[in-house]
Amino acid sequence: MEEDKFKAKLPYRYNYWELIKKFCSTYLNPKRKVFFSVQVLHILAAGLILVPPLILRDIIDVAIPERDLGNIITLFLIALGAYFLEAGITAAKEYWGHVVAQEITRDMRNDLYIHYQDLNMRFHDNKKTGELMSRVIDDLNRMQEFVHHGPEALVGSLALLLGTVGLMIYLSPHLTMISLIFVPFLLIFSYVLLKRLHLSFRKIREKKAVMHDRLEDNLAGIKIIKAFANEELEKERFSATNEEHKEARIKAIKYLSILFPGSRFLNALGILVVIGYGGYMVILGQISAGTIVAFYGFLMQFRVPLLRLVNMMEGLSQFFASTERFFSHLELEPDIREKSRSTARQVMGHVEFQNVHFSYDEEEVLRDVSFQVAPQQTVALVGPSGAGKTSIIRLIPRLYDVDSGQVLIDGINVRDWKIRDLRNSIAMVMQDDFLFSNSVTENIAYGRPGAEQEEIIAAAKAANAHEFIEELPQGYDTQVGQRGLKLSGGQKQRISLARAFLKNPRILILDEATSSVDLKTEKLIQEAITRITSQRTTFIIAHRLSTITNAGMILFIDRGRVREMGSHEELMEKAGSYYEFYRMQFEKEKSVTKISQEVDWTG
Ligand SMILES: Nc1ncnc2c1ncn2[C@@H]1O[C@H](COP(=O)(O)OP(=O)(O)O)[C@@H](O)[C@H]1O
Ligand SMILES: [Mg+2]
Repeated sequence: MEEDKFKAKLPYRYNYWELIKKFCSTYLNPKRKVFFSVQVLHILAAGLILVPPLILRDIIDVAIPERDLGNIITLFLIALGAYFLEAGITAAKEYWGHVVAQEITRDMRNDLYIHYQDLNMRFHDNKKTGELMSRVIDDLNRMQEFVHHGPEALVGSLALLLGTVGLMIYLSPHLTMISLIFVPFLLIFSYVLLKRLHLSFRKIREKKAVMHDRLEDNLAGIKIIKAFANEELEKERFSATNEEHKEARIKAIKYLSILFPGSRFLNALGILVVIGYGGYMVILGQISAGTIVAFYGFLMQFRVPLLRLVNMMEGLSQFFASTERFFSHLELEPDIREKSRSTARQVMGHVEFQNVHFSYDEEEVLRDVSFQVAPQQTVALVGPSGAGKTSIIRLIPRLYDVDSGQVLIDGINVRDWKIRDLRNSIAMVMQDDFLFSNSVTENIAYGRPGAEQEEIIAAAKAANAHEFIEELPQGYDTQVGQRGLKLSGGQKQRISLARAFLKNPRILILDEATSSVDLKTEKLIQEAITRITSQRTTFIIAHRLSTITNAGMILFIDRGRVREMGSHEELMEKAGSYYEFYRMQFEKEKSVTKISQEVDWTG
């Protein structure tokens, strides 16, 4: 359902033929030499597998009656050669076939990854796209097997089946017809079971994903679960999913248990015909004894390639679905695009909004926002949460495009800037800033890749982060982020600040960047901010009054509009919304200050 809704927005829908053409021309073509060599090897290997039954026939029909030991040795050597070659060829084709498949899926993954990075924020904001992204990545993991085993089944198994039937007809058309009489049943039986098997496998995957999500949720929310004493409830919910997962698996096991013996039995019916009716034909002198032995050999190796071929049909439809999703994602156009005629420029730091209207979805989040900020000025954005402060500052580095009006940097519309120039001159520190699973040094250096260690330390000092970093187990080499040491909110924010300081941007944006810092640390950060804001345009979104009152200009934002604008004194004199807000905030802060004097809030 959700997927369909999303698909409706996709620029393209493909038919199978287009998909094959697209896949071959983009990804298979560069690897075509190895790929086609592997297909030839599939055919050669199939041919070699057909040799031993023929040799047995010759041994029985020719060499043994003539008591010709020399001939037996010759036939023995031929069989030996066939087996040996087949082993060698199979090893080579398995290896190279998988290598090609890995290389193809690596290329696809790279393209997709780069493309996801280019896509606009609106794409990434959408929760459903996160799921779809992991679907496509999942798809790629499964495709990797199919890219090798699909052609293997189609070319190798088909060659083996056709070769077998061809030789059987050559030996005895009559016996062939009668011994293959059960093949249609075998086909239907394996088709039905494999289809069901794939459905249960899909179900298993779904249940596994649900279980995984639930587990992740539970572990992330363990504090809340414990605080509300809901362990029992969670246990029940988990065990319900666990049970469904088990049921799905048991169903799959059931089909598997039937599939192999069942198909073996149906195949054995053909072999029984050879034994019974074939024996009768030998007595009648219609065929030789060696022919039944050869037929026996052929039929024994008939079932597996047949199952593979049927299985490939199922795999093929999944492959088409996966490639379609893949290409659809790859062809999503980022709606934030750079104009080709944009010329490189240096940002000076003048920022102007002219009658900006903006919305994420249908609802307008910013309404007619206009203001101007001179280079090196510090602006505080103040207002209730949900007012649109964060949305305003996101428009400055053009993370989103406005609906109407314009955002100008140095008098030039952001749409006319080179995106790289723009973003290289702007640093943002957000409330919930993200640290990569990497060392502290790497995380700070992200602000300016290639920075010297001294510069990194200087930035950390400016952000008042140096001291606590030194005290970490491995200092600047300590691994942090999701898979590293857990840092407190205040520590994370100071590392983010250091990252921004290192970037030394013309425009600095601090969005509640000091919100999870205790008063003492905030004072330290405040010093640091004053130190670096002097040479750049700074936007500060903060709730603390000291931060706000220091700003040269205050924008009071409410429900998407700029309600009041001016210096702290001017706005206080006006006794309007800002004045109200200030008073309420002031009452709150007085009590917080009192508490923080009693408790050590070192974050
Ligand atoms: N990525 C988003 N997608 C959709 N709506 C959003 C998104 N981010 C914020 N909003 C909505 O936009 C409005 C303004 O939010 P925001 O700019 O974050 O306010 P503030 O920073 O002042 O708290 C809110 O109603 C919020 O729900
Ligand atoms: Mg915000």
